[in-house]
Amino acid sequence: MARGLFSRAWLSKTYHFQARLSYIRVKYLFLTWLAVFVSSWVLYVQYSTYTELCRGRECKSIICEKYSKGVIDGSACSSLCEESSLYFGRCLSTKPNNQVYTGSWGDHDGVIKCHLSDILHYELGDELEPKKEVALFDKPTRGTSVEKFKEMVASHLKAKVGEQANLSSLVSLILSVADSNKDGHISLPEAKSAWALLQLNEVLLAVVLQDREHTPRLLGFCGDLYVVERVPHTPLYGLSLPWPMELWIPMGMRQNMDQWFTPSWPRKAKIFIGLLELIEDIFHGTFGSFLMCDMRASTFGYTDRHDLRLVDGRRVVAEEAFKQAMILQHCEDDADCVYGVDCRTSCDRAEHRCMADVAQPNLARACGALKDYLLRGVPVQLSRWKWSTLSFSTTSRHCYGNRSHTPMIPEEK
Ligand SMILES: Nc1ncnc2c1ncn2[C@@H]1O[C@H](COP(=O)(O)OP(=O)(O)OP(=O)(O)O)[C@@H](O)[C@H]1O
Ligand SMILES: [Mg+2]
Repeated sequence: MARGLFSRAWLSKTYHFQARLSYIRVKYLFLTWLAVFVSSWVLYVQYSTYTELCRGRECKSIICEKYSKGVIDGSACSSLCEESSLYFGRCLSTKPNNQVYTGSWGDHDGVIKCHLSDILHYELGDELEPKKEVALFDKPTRGTSVEKFKEMVASHLKAKVGEQANLSSLVSLILSVADSNKDGHISLPEAKSAWALLQLNEVLLAVVLQDREHTPRLLGFCGDLYVVERVPHTPLYGLSLPWPMELWIPMGMRQNMDQWFTPSWPRKAKIFIGLLELIEDIFHGTFGSFLMCDMRASTFGYTDRHDLRLVDGRRVVAEEAFKQAMILQHCEDDADCVYGVDCRTSCDRAEHRCMADVAQPNLARACGALKDYLLRGVPVQLSRWKWSTLSFSTTSRHCYGNRSHTPMIPEEK
């Protein structure tokens, strides 16, 4: 009897154990299936985002096809298309029409930039530069003399930087860059490449500031694809987090987190001094004034020696070109008169046209955008100075504190 009871209890235990085992099995099977499903979905999304954003092959094949047909030429063409000594490395693009890749070219660590788009006209509020794929290399036409090409370049630059005494030296500078094989002669394919590059704000700026230190050097080009020096630390600061996390993190905490991996204060001050020097270089510089219309941290980077570099010059526009484009812009209120991220003018509501003059100069916008970055971790002996009352006049060309008109950055020791 006792034996019967024992075996029944044992049987029911075994049954329960087996039922539990199969329940656990089903649970784990389900969880494994869920994990596989979610990870393949994530992989698929990553892959499709990658293929949409990273179109380096397309860039290369368009450029190399034009090169092989003799339409374009440039210092990077044979390395890219024949010798394969210029490689597309890691994809850094964040927009499908603006291809950015790390590139290795001999001893140089570069960044390859190439535009893929079919916007065929100037569009304010988007870019002050035309981007074309098909008709891009249609100028200058066959039979254009070097003199005529010089005139084309001169009048294009005059429209961009305005009438000025140094225009002819700027034209010579552009022509010397255009002569990519340095044979003292500009061929039609070289002229076509130079003309296409001249439409790009970033390239114009790199040429204008080629002997200054705050823009990455232009290493070479082929058509409108160009290679610039790679800046080791970008962006200036800030963490990039997956978007679901971004949604849950409160603003204050996010601002704190952005400063987690920033350099020590004296180094930040050195970087900021670099920014002030850059602003000085482009404000009433040798070849006219430029406006920096994107003061976000992603626009800047710095070297291992903490020297500031402008990594994205696409929204640095010649002031003259900015004014001309602004007065053509239709508006209902001031919000319609913005170029890039932060170049604002006001709206003439009677005429429904934007005013020409930018509301805040480069320096005031730079100080406003980067003051949190700079003031975090300021040493005690300096914090006695009234940093908290730091204010920026909307029209001033200087960053001042309220107490005195002492320049904001103290001398570097
Ligand atoms: N010379 C460079 N050296 C190192 N990184 C660079 C250089 N130029 C661009 N980058 C990096 O390439 C990436 C893409 O730059 P890009 O300007 O196209 O995108 P973005 O700044 O994220 O977006 P936006 O279109 O709003 O400017 C950025 O992470 C930028 O830091
Ligand atoms: Mg950018």
